[in-house]
Amino acid sequence: MFCARKSVIVSEGAKHRGQRSIMSPAFGSSQIRDLMHIFVQKSAETQRIDRQLQLRNIWADEVSKSDGCARINAMDGLQKLTLDVISLAGFGLDLKALNNNGEPNEIDEAFCEIFSAVPPVKLYRVMMDWLPFLDFFPDERTKKIRHARSVIRRIGTDLIREKKAAIQRELDIGDGALGKEDLPGKDLLTLLIKANMATNLTKNQRLTDEEVLSQIPTFLVAGHESTTITTAWCLFALTQNPRIQQKLREELLSLQTDSPTMDELASLPYLDRVVRETLRLYTPVVFTLRAAAEDDVIPLSEPVIDRNGKAQHEIRIAAGNRVIVSILEPHHSKAIWGDDALEFRPERWDNLPEEAARMPGIWGNVLAFAAGAHSCIGYRFAIAEIKAVLFTLVREFVFELGVAPEDVTAVGMLTQRPALKSELEVGPQLPLLVRPYVHPVSS
Ligand code: HEM
Repeated sequence: MFCARKSVIVSEGAKHRGQRSIMSPAFGSSQIRDLMHIFVQKSAETQRIDRQLQLRNIWADEVSKSDGCARINAMDGLQKLTLDVISLAGFGLDLKALNNNGEPNEIDEAFCEIFSAVPPVKLYRVMMDWLPFLDFFPDERTKKIRHARSVIRRIGTDLIREKKAAIQRELDIGDGALGKEDLPGKDLLTLLIKANMATNLTKNQRLTDEEVLSQIPTFLVAGHESTTITTAWCLFALTQNPRIQQKLREELLSLQTDSPTMDELASLPYLDRVVRETLRLYTPVVFTLRAAAEDDVIPLSEPVIDRNGKAQHEIRIAAGNRVIVSILEPHHSKAIWGDDALEFRPERWDNLPEEAARMPGIWGNVLAFAAGAHSCIGYRFAIAEIKAVLFTLVREFVFELGVAPEDVTAVGMLTQRPALKSELEVGPQLPLLVRPYVHPVSS
């Protein structure tokens, strides 16, 4: 729907491997460590303060304007925060979605329009996939998506042109030829432009202008949507479990800094368990799709009864068959996690059942980031960002749910965002009652 045709998320085979190897350095541990200043620290020279400190300050303002307890839609602030972070960290583009001084912001508005829609998907949109002539008669939502695409394309084209011109100016000072190692910096945009301009790359390592441009909407969407949803569900879970919220807060307050490094955040075991448990119970991407490259047979751990009443011990798949791989099912399975599989219990990570410990996945025995060639390239980025945001917010505020828990539901198809049953038409939201945390007076 919103994915760009030549981006890493849809490319396959050697081209996909080439794109992943170009971009991977932007998501390695050392690069994420360098990005912590965007996630956490204040930047003294530019007076730009770090994004979640901005969010903390915005929420603190709302709290003080509301006599010490504000009703805040957490989805809104988190969405803006994560959009700012990925655009700044990935592309050096300061969208100022969080703090725009009242100025309209085209990309933020475009995303708000897209992500505010709530399924069910209309029949007309399903038919558009099958009847291409309907493209000439777009419905309202298709028009919005097309508009958002064109905004991002225009901004992306300008960004690439400016970055190329800056690189060219540097080259003009040197010998004029660009080799693979000549450009400093491992940020995503620099790596992409390097792969576009360098003269000594193989065909699969080289990116065309269109391929570079395609990565921008892909990363803007993939880089902020799931992180927003995970953090929002985590805050929801903390409202439902005040003991866990307080235990987490006490651990976070044990660090004597507002601006922890990545290693300091990684040293907090309970924070790690809370994030793992959120990604397990409220996994934001609930399934993934694959097409079989060749005929295969999938063995089953337990037989299933087919429609003819016969027990099947394996599933035969033909080349080209599409397979929906559920992420949510194994995360909620009582056979894997035990009878309390549907409870939010970070302590379970101290002693995982054997079945759960065998769960494949690129991070922490959860499938939230999928596995294999197309698994999430940004998982280290996401975990560092989620931890940094929770660190800042949970130290500062006490969170309660602003509605009855039964009113909260999950909406979406591929991703599951929080919304209210009573106000589905409003789109995703999570109303929280936010109060400042008052430190107990020590006797
Ligand atoms: C909690 C946050 C996140 C979750 C749960 C998540 C989950 C996933 C999943 C399940 C996939 C595999 C999709 C598939 O196989 O069909 C994926 C792919 C991807 N993710 Fe993430 N993601 C998160 C954050 C991020 C961030 C922060 C970035 C970028 C900074 C990112 C960039 C990508 C990209 C580019 C792909 C496509 C990779 C490829 O096809 O080779 N994701 N993500």
